[in-house]
Amino acid sequence: MFSTDDLCSLRWDAVSAKVEVIDQTLLPHTLRWCHLDSLSAFCHAISNMQVRGAPLIGITAAFGLAHALSDDASDDNLARASAALLATRPTAVNLRWALEQVTAAVQILPPSARARVALETARVLREEDIANCERIGDNGLKLLQPLVSGDRLNIMTHCNAGWLATVQWGTALAPIYKAHASGIPVHVWVSETRPRNQGTNLTAWELHRAGVPCTIVTDNSCGQLMRQGRVDCVIVGSDRTAANGDVCNKIGTYLKALSARANAIPFYVALPESTIDWTCPGGDQIPIEERDEAEVLSIAGVDAAGELREVNLAAAHSRALNPAFDVTPSDLVSALITEHGNFAASAQGLQQLRTVMTGV
Ligand code: MRU
Repeated sequence: MFSTDDLCSLRWDAVSAKVEVIDQTLLPHTLRWCHLDSLSAFCHAISNMQVRGAPLIGITAAFGLAHALSDDASDDNLARASAALLATRPTAVNLRWALEQVTAAVQILPPSARARVALETARVLREEDIANCERIGDNGLKLLQPLVSGDRLNIMTHCNAGWLATVQWGTALAPIYKAHASGIPVHVWVSETRPRNQGTNLTAWELHRAGVPCTIVTDNSCGQLMRQGRVDCVIVGSDRTAANGDVCNKIGTYLKALSARANAIPFYVALPESTIDWTCPGGDQIPIEERDEAEVLSIAGVDAAGELREVNLAAAHSRALNPAFDVTPSDLVSALITEHGNFAASAQGLQQLRTVMTGV
């Protein structure tokens, strides 16, 4: 499905080591590549959500650390740059995971060898992310095939867990792309995902570009659609999955899981191994990012002349609370779709996954 001509979210030039990302704050209106040429540019891109989505945050941070080491590969700078990148966003554990991968690869080396190995590690992580997401697509497809009965398979998703959130394929969207490519008549309900509207701005854009039929719906309409029998399953991604199978994902995910359970609809969570926090016993221990209230109180879009504008929604004195993620307890999750196969969302299911991963 994805050929070499297709877009990816982060590209890297092997000769110049130049890293470019799609500035996702401008989508769906403008597709612009942004060159990340300093540690502060990498940090800014993650914290301001030019790149976002758990796997992509991790890959970007890996390249950011490699870039910092090309300037100064001392132990001090390794620690400083890693801490700066780790502080950009708190919830997606892929960020910590990717920094640990690069650090483990370089810290045993003399400083003169570190930049090259760090860049090579980042490159490998990027390639592996693409391969893992494609496997997630294949494994998720096995769960979708038995659900096909009527004239179309209606899948609901939330936020953006497509290739814009990874490098290619995505997590939650990978099984959908695979189903579409295999001839299954999929239709996707895209919930808009207030306040930053990743569903409207990113998921609908991605799906439209791939020719996958989709309809944007308000976050609040999802329960009603499920109750009316218009949803065959829900697939979302994850920013951090705890060792007991609790899943942290974009705010609003929990409400969808509750509604899916009440309406006997399968609720699947797609994630790579790098999203599992084995050190975290349960969802209550996951740090939930709180973002600026301005994201709730205002909204951005293009006007009739095509100019990007931000307008206030609320009265000037209004205050808002903006938690960016929520936790869905494991018992509401029908299965975890991973690159290693599909597993129960439970401590036992994750132990089985670990056995497959390590072969022990
Ligand atoms: O705040 P964001 O846009 O980084 O949140 C992204 C999500 O919540 C995704 O669903 C999650 O990272 C899974 S991505 C493959």
